[in-house]
Amino acid sequence: MRRQRPLDTALDSPDQRRAPEQALCWMNGELMPASRARISVFDHGLLYGDGVFEGIRFYDGHPFRLQEHLQRLVLSTRALALRILYDNHELTEAVHDIIAACTFGSGYLRLVVTRGPGALGLDPASCPRPEVFIIADRLRLVDEQVLERGARLIIASTRRLPADGLDPRIKSLNYLNHILARIEANHAGADEAILLNGAGRVAEGTADNVFIVRHGVLLTPPPVEGALAGITRQVVLELAQEAGIPVRETPLAPYDLYTADECFLTGTAAELIPVASIDGRALPRCPGMLYRDLQQRFSALVELSGRAP
Ligand SMILES: Cc1ncc(COP(=O)(O)O)c(C=O)c1O
Repeated sequence: MRRQRPLDTALDSPDQRRAPEQALCWMNGELMPASRARISVFDHGLLYGDGVFEGIRFYDGHPFRLQEHLQRLVLSTRALALRILYDNHELTEAVHDIIAACTFGSGYLRLVVTRGPGALGLDPASCPRPEVFIIADRLRLVDEQVLERGARLIIASTRRLPADGLDPRIKSLNYLNHILARIEANHAGADEAILLNGAGRVAEGTADNVFIVRHGVLLTPPPVEGALAGITRQVVLELAQEAGIPVRETPLAPYDLYTADECFLTGTAAELIPVASIDGRALPRCPGMLYRDLQQRFSALVELSGRAP
């Protein structure tokens, strides 16, 4: 791996020195202000969405569940026959380097691997070198108002792509059907959209997993229903098990969401968001009791991770 230059010497002139709170980018072993990072217009990540990514939170200077994110990234790259030049140790080091260079202690990392520059045809064989970069930025937190009143969801008419079209376990740069679902939510004045799979069962949100509570049991669709195997989802399942909350990974229909006692969303950026209504059906409890319990446990875990040595 190329050694990085110290951030401030990588800048051209004193007036380009790092502004407080500035987003940074790690690219090919070099740290720079994110505004200076450049990608080729011939990059197949841009031309065809050919690439993968991870969104990773860091709290008080410590990345949260970094190894789980790196494992998922490696599996996504293998599924796409995308060979990256950096191994786990080098990527771990790069993540720690960029966090150390940030002026803010807590924020969000976007680790992206693209197929890299190639010819204008889509054949990946024309792309000799994948591009790897990491952006570090402060997180635009979920609207306080949404956290307090709960998110209003719609069920989108846009479906999750079938697994035999694009396996949901690949966290790819292809989010167009999720974006179409999000556009539906925006037009409906909702906060988020739920995508169904081809069979009409619940898959996930546009960038989050979905949980409901019924008669004290926590229910969530298994990834095979078309959901990303979310890392926050996994943490919540572990926390529920520790707390003795019964959990079932089971297929869910829209009916199950409409008639749930509680519903919430999970994701790296979202953390845990309570849901107030789905397609105009108000849920009886928002935020619900199990949500509050799990949210407190999640905050405690995050706080602990921020204090990790
Ligand atoms: C489609 C989708 N589902 C679920 C999630 C939540 O996954 P995680 O908890 O790993 O962030 C994400 C996160 O980006 C996502 O993009």
